[in-house]
Amino acid sequence: MVRRGHYRPRLSYPNAIKVNLVLIFAFFFLVFIFYTRQWHLIDDEQNFSENDHQTDQHKASIMQMPDEELWDSPLSHGLRPCVKPTSKYKAATEQDHYMTVRSNGGLNQMRTGIADMVAVAHIMNATLVIPQLDKRSFWHDSSTFSDIFDEVHFIETLREDVKIVKELPQELAKVPRARKHFTSWASTSYYEDMTQLWNEYQVIHVAKSDSRLANNDLPLDIQRLRCRALYHALRFSPPIESFGKKLVERLRARGGKYIALHLRYEKDMLSFTGCSYGLTDEESEELRIMRENTNHWKVKKINSTEQRQGGLCPLTPKEIGMFLRALGYPPSSLIYIAAGEIYGGSTRLMELTSRFPNIVFKETLATQEELKAFTNHASQTAALDYVISVESDVFVPSYSGNMARAVEGQRRFLGHRKTITPDRKGLVEVFDMLENGKQTEGSWLSHIIQTMHKNRKGAPRRRRGPLPEMKGRARLRTEESFYENPYPECICAPKKYF
Ligand SMILES: *[C@@H]1O[C@H](CO)[C@@H](O)[C@H](O)[C@H]1NC(C)=O
Ligand SMILES: *[C@@H]1O[C@H](CO)[C@@H](O)[C@H](O)[C@H]1NC(C)=O
Repeated sequence: MVRRGHYRPRLSYPNAIKVNLVLIFAFFFLVFIFYTRQWHLIDDEQNFSENDHQTDQHKASIMQMPDEELWDSPLSHGLRPCVKPTSKYKAATEQDHYMTVRSNGGLNQMRTGIADMVAVAHIMNATLVIPQLDKRSFWHDSSTFSDIFDEVHFIETLREDVKIVKELPQELAKVPRARKHFTSWASTSYYEDMTQLWNEYQVIHVAKSDSRLANNDLPLDIQRLRCRALYHALRFSPPIESFGKKLVERLRARGGKYIALHLRYEKDMLSFTGCSYGLTDEESEELRIMRENTNHWKVKKINSTEQRQGGLCPLTPKEIGMFLRALGYPPSSLIYIAAGEIYGGSTRLMELTSRFPNIVFKETLATQEELKAFTNHASQTAALDYVISVESDVFVPSYSGNMARAVEGQRRFLGHRKTITPDRKGLVEVFDMLENGKQTEGSWLSHIIQTMHKNRKGAPRRRRGPLPEMKGRARLRTEESFYENPYPECICAPKKYF
């Protein structure tokens, strides 16, 4: 990859000094302005070792972002996926112990959970029965495993790792099973201890598959098995794969490059998070009532203002519009909206489409007829969004969540494709200054937002560990998810010396 600016023709000696002095002066002037006015807005995650290649000199011309700065992947220094087992890896052996699994959650929670269960079955020497999918979550989807995933491919791809069967053998259907809620964020030794269950039972039923395996401190071969399971074996079913590809081709035919925007602005999301910023009183009340009436949402009283200031709210369509403009994306940019129904409908979306008229949805790209097969299956439409998001030039999630994490992780795995993660807390602070009339949109906003996101574009970095102030098992919860960033285990440096 050629680094922009590397091959500048050399200037004659005195000219070079002049130009450098001007640039140095301009740079310090900007730094001075920036630090005196905005030091408190600097993203506290900036010290991560992302390799951003924007040089300081480019700050002077930051409003005219060159195309490659907007669309190209960050430099990844030849890093590549590495999922092959080490020489110590023990292949699966024929087993007559069985593990049945009920996956829980939405599509991506189930996907990562299933990949974990493959690893758990391997650790416990079990034969894995094709998992049952969640039909009760608010996704209300009756799809089975083979509706969403390519079952044969799944079984074949993992042949050396775990024996997988479609169903429990008939003679075992009625035998008593050990019904287990495995502990969350468990280690390999936990599952090795669990093999004692085989003394009494021939079948273990796992009642929940999400987050049953720790993110860190697992053997390299287990981590790589998780990657093989998620990125190679767990392919979507042929109808989803091929239709997803077709939609990507149609997007490319429209404009070449596109942004996939995961716009979490659905009613249930806003109700659950208690975020009513920018909504009418009636809408806020509607969300409050929905929260009140949803039993499994434990937190009922939420102060929307505090929630938003803490960076805990999805960005609104308007905020996303301002954000993308400030980053330098031109109004003509093609944006695919990966989302369910937007709360407030087209009226609220206007605040985004007024800035970016080239906004498209599944419904814009495909005919009613084509979409009919997918529409009553939330997991299948989510799978289409997943495919389109992974393939996009730029992925922007307006909120964190299982889908955003899974897409980011797979994009890192596939070559650190650009993923821009908004610093919601910092952005809210800036947007409030606009609202109070203290600042206006334009170069000020652009400069501050670009600086804030310099190191949030998906460049290679190691997975983050737990928050330092956390103690005991609570630490595990605060670690960055393995599937959000499988580096270093499944992403390796090039072998330079062979
Ligand atoms: C799994 O099976 C292999 C071969 O049968 C055996 O060597 C190994 O100890 C078993 N592992 C566990 C955790 O039981
Ligand atoms: C919510 O929090 C803000 C900021 O802390 C405060 O000013 C406001 O009064 C609170 N609102 C309610 C309804 O408690």
